[in-house]
Amino acid sequence: MLEKTFTEKTYTLEILYHVGTYENSIHFIFDHASKTCAIIDPAWEADLFIQRIIDKGYTLTDIWLTHWHGDHMNAADEIADKTGAKITVGVNETPYLQVEHSVTTVNDGEIVTLGNTQAKIINTPGHTAGGICYLLDGHIIVGDTLFVYGAGHCSLPGGNVREFYHSMQKLKLVNDDVMLHCGHDYGCKIDTTMSDQKAGNAYLLLDNEEDFVKYVDGMSQGLVAYPTQALTLKEIQHML
Ligand SMILES: [Fe+2]
Repeated sequence: MLEKTFTEKTYTLEILYHVGTYENSIHFIFDHASKTCAIIDPAWEADLFIQRIIDKGYTLTDIWLTHWHGDHMNAADEIADKTGAKITVGVNETPYLQVEHSVTTVNDGEIVTLGNTQAKIINTPGHTAGGICYLLDGHIIVGDTLFVYGAGHCSLPGGNVREFYHSMQKLKLVNDDVMLHCGHDYGCKIDTTMSDQKAGNAYLLLDNEEDFVKYVDGMSQGLVAYPTQALTLKEIQHML
């Protein structure tokens, strides 16, 4: 299991890659001052995650979900049972999310806090109806909304290609130097920044809604290859 650690002013971000059947990336936020931890999209390995947090001397207080898909939350109930951690999810995701515990809902522009660490919520519907991203100081955790040079599909309940286009326009406003962290390692590399993605990710490069729809629909029909590396707008338009 590959791991990465990024130490920032108020928090440390740790990432476990390739976890479980669908090889999910699991993100841990460790707030230095309060010694509390938030885990983003816990799936597959509840006990391993809980032990990891205990071993570091931290207390797990929060489970932050990006969206309802099982490979991003199938350990949420078990972790909440065993630790009492509070589950947070986007307000528009609740009709789809299947958890036994009650959840706290958040909406676009709200701030969630963990000790001295804050994350701004960005609603990014499209992959699901109520998907959200967590923007921290220097890092953004996006679930399946973006992958390195790619993005999630829109084919499950709640998915919507046109909403996805508008979510991409919002993500283009995130600062260039912010590191992007995705729910799966599906691209040609792991480390990337928003600047890197704005320059080569087809989903961010397409600046016309109709072309975007054509591109994504073309992919689901097998007419367009899924991108795993940087493309130019010219190359993408050539595929349409
Ligand atoms: Fe997903």
